[in-house]
Amino acid sequence: MNAGIDRISFYTSRYCLDLKDLAEARGVDWNKYSIGIGQEVMGIPPPDEDIVTMAASAAKPIIDEVGVEGIDLVLFATESSIDQSKSAGLFLHSLLGLQSRCRLVELKQACYSGTIALRMAALAVAASPKSKALVLTSDIARYELGSPGEPTQGCGAVAMLVTADPSLLSLDPEYGVHAEDVMDFWRPNYRDEALVDGKYSTRIYLNSVSQSWNQYAEITGRTLDDFARCCYHIPFTNMAAKAHDRLLKNAGIIEGRKEIIESKVRESLAYNRITGNTYSASLYEGLTCLFDTASEPLDDKRIGLFSYGSGSVGEFFSGVVTPGYRDSLYTAKHKSVLETRTMVSVQQYEDIFNLNIPTDGWDYRFGEYQTGSFRLAGMHAHKRMYEAVS
Ligand code: HMG
Repeated sequence: MNAGIDRISFYTSRYCLDLKDLAEARGVDWNKYSIGIGQEVMGIPPPDEDIVTMAASAAKPIIDEVGVEGIDLVLFATESSIDQSKSAGLFLHSLLGLQSRCRLVELKQACYSGTIALRMAALAVAASPKSKALVLTSDIARYELGSPGEPTQGCGAVAMLVTADPSLLSLDPEYGVHAEDVMDFWRPNYRDEALVDGKYSTRIYLNSVSQSWNQYAEITGRTLDDFARCCYHIPFTNMAAKAHDRLLKNAGIIEGRKEIIESKVRESLAYNRITGNTYSASLYEGLTCLFDTASEPLDDKRIGLFSYGSGSVGEFFSGVVTPGYRDSLYTAKHKSVLETRTMVSVQQYEDIFNLNIPTDGWDYRFGEYQTGSFRLAGMHAHKRMYEAVS
């Protein structure tokens, strides 16, 4: 039984910061951001936007098109959790009007959790082909102001409908996986910003992709030539390029690696370059970008995917693109989401960054900023109050 991604929909905040302005404010050469790490713009979530509103806005086009019938599993992957007990998916359940016969849970393992959610959803629908699952990946990447990680912040969400006989991508059953207990990036419960050992984290990522690929290649007998394209977890776009370069190097390819990366990886990076890291969503933002912008039809082609979550778990897996997949994309919507954002100044970005959700339990209403289809209206008795935007 084929199972995989039937619809994929991406959303990011209505505000963003030009990294040229950040470079100037921090006294950093702009080329370091644009060439050295490969980022141009980062998404800025206003106070009334959070992982729930972003995920619900990402999922809405899917629900509007296919309805809620049959969706009996919702898996919400995030590392920007808003509650220690209640799953973010339950807030979204009411915003989207999902049916009450629905299993629902939140998953966490840094940026990897969306992948285990996708794999679990695919297993569930393969076992019960009339069922559908909604996988949400939604995150806000935050590092300290002025830290090396600052230009790699961002925000966004990807919603995926997972079904039997999917319209976009059938997942192959094989995978290679590598887990190890390391402190490359983490966020204790009492902190809003992640802590990171930046350079170490890039080394761990590269080791993880090598180990995961070796296992995948051994199990499947496939080589890198078997993939029309490869998508990677994208903390910043050059990291994905480095990952593919590492696999090519490991395979003994000396000449032409730059050109191979251009043709096999580059098309998946354009969205991330102008949103920044979206943590659990970033691999799937890359896949969405590839589907939307590929220079040639990908029908029947195999795509390689590498998911990485600090801490760390890496997984290399793959899928085959369904013939006619282009009829099931939301390309125009994604273009509009990215092209209609408002640029903020560095001062506005810092003001937004320093605004915290009140923790005193008092009634509080947020000012109305630009958001997607939903917004966080305020707090009442320690409860988050969401509303649809008319
Ligand atoms: P840094 O110390 O600011 O930068 O940290 P750098 O000095 O290493 O420079 C970066 C690159 O820019 C280098 O290129 C420089 O040569 C180049 P590289 O050697 O890497 O090829 N450069 C320039 N290029 C052109 N013109 C110039 C110039 N100056 C320098 N003038 C770092 C960079 C990525 C470490 C930092 O931004 C950081 O800590 N980021 C956050 C951590 C991160 O993203 N890690 C990635 C792997 S871990 C991961 O992916 C998981 C994660 O998503 C979290 C999760 O799983 O939940 C983060």
